[in-house]
Amino acid sequence: MNSPEKTSATSLPRYSRIAGTGGYLPANCVTNAQLAQRLAASGIDTSDEWIADRTGIKSRHFAADDELCSDLAVAAARRAIEAAGCDASSIDLIILATSTPDMVFPSTACIVQHKLGLAGCPAFDVQAVCSGFVYALTVADSMIRTGAASRALVIGSEVFSRLLDFGDRTTCVLFGDGAGAVVLEASDEPGILASELHADGRHVGILCTPGGVSGGLLRGDPTLKMDGPAVFKLAVTVLEDVARSVLIKAGRTEADIDWLIPHQANIRIMQSTARKLKLSMDKVIVTVADHGNTSAASIPLALDVAVRSGQVVRGDTLMLEGVGGGFTWGAVLLDY
Ligand code: UT7
Repeated sequence: MNSPEKTSATSLPRYSRIAGTGGYLPANCVTNAQLAQRLAASGIDTSDEWIADRTGIKSRHFAADDELCSDLAVAAARRAIEAAGCDASSIDLIILATSTPDMVFPSTACIVQHKLGLAGCPAFDVQAVCSGFVYALTVADSMIRTGAASRALVIGSEVFSRLLDFGDRTTCVLFGDGAGAVVLEASDEPGILASELHADGRHVGILCTPGGVSGGLLRGDPTLKMDGPAVFKLAVTVLEDVARSVLIKAGRTEADIDWLIPHQANIRIMQSTARKLKLSMDKVIVTVADHGNTSAASIPLALDVAVRSGQVVRGDTLMLEGVGGGFTWGAVLLDY
């Protein structure tokens, strides 16, 4: 078993590093053609061609009716723990990013903790929609650096299909379900080099699920609403800005990035970000074709795919970038 650097008030770890990654996709894979056929039955006109051309998505996975956010998260977490080569009992912090929790409360992180057979360590959810994993990773990094934790499980898990209005073709073709996880542990070596988080609540309305519960009833509309073009425009601007800012903080340049692992919302946003950062697309991890947009799960899922395929190897410098509802955005630069 690897043991993370011991922490004390006098010798705090200087860094946190990713010890292992894991991912999980529900078994039900739905292609664009299958989805278009399903939508046609209710009079909604879309096509594989439109979806693939405008977004890069070819298929997505949908969770089974009895599969919960916590089930996906546990499957991804087990794989990350196995990859890290550590005992689950050594996990001393669980942070889970999601907008599709099992319950209003308690947090899905607490449910995951119990399903993993753990107890005692802090466990909480982070709600930053598609930026959620970058937020969760930054919080875990900060807690490890201050000595509050030494081995964290950081998870992004979503059952976004539950929020979709299958009568709205502008949104229902875009999203999928899945989970990704990392074990982040204290280390003398980097690790996470720099990170930055942002939010601007003026843009709440361009991407939201406005419903809630009140008096035992649903209040408002509990399906996802998005002004796609407005989100697109903001996303391409903030993703460039935050990447540059994080590079400056870390004393690195675009040339130091081995892999850009952006939130997987739309291939055209990824192409635009890569172009602005002067990176060729063969330095960008792209899973949107097979996963669709899995919100907080998209970055750790893409990371796990890249690690398991051998694209990302130890020593590579990775730029992780998220953007989503809130409006929220952020980036983490790390040496894997
Ligand atoms: O994860 C959080 C972050 N989210 C994102 O980053 C999403 C950002 N936005 C986008 O990715 C894109 O804006 C979309 C993929 C959502 C839309 O692409 P677009 O190129 O901005 O298309 P549009 O919304 O401007 O719509 C173009 C046309 C419209 O028809 P008209 O008005 O030109 O006749 C739409 O009605 O495409 C039509 N359209 C569709 N046609 C067939 C919209 N959805 C569909 C569809 N199938 N599914």
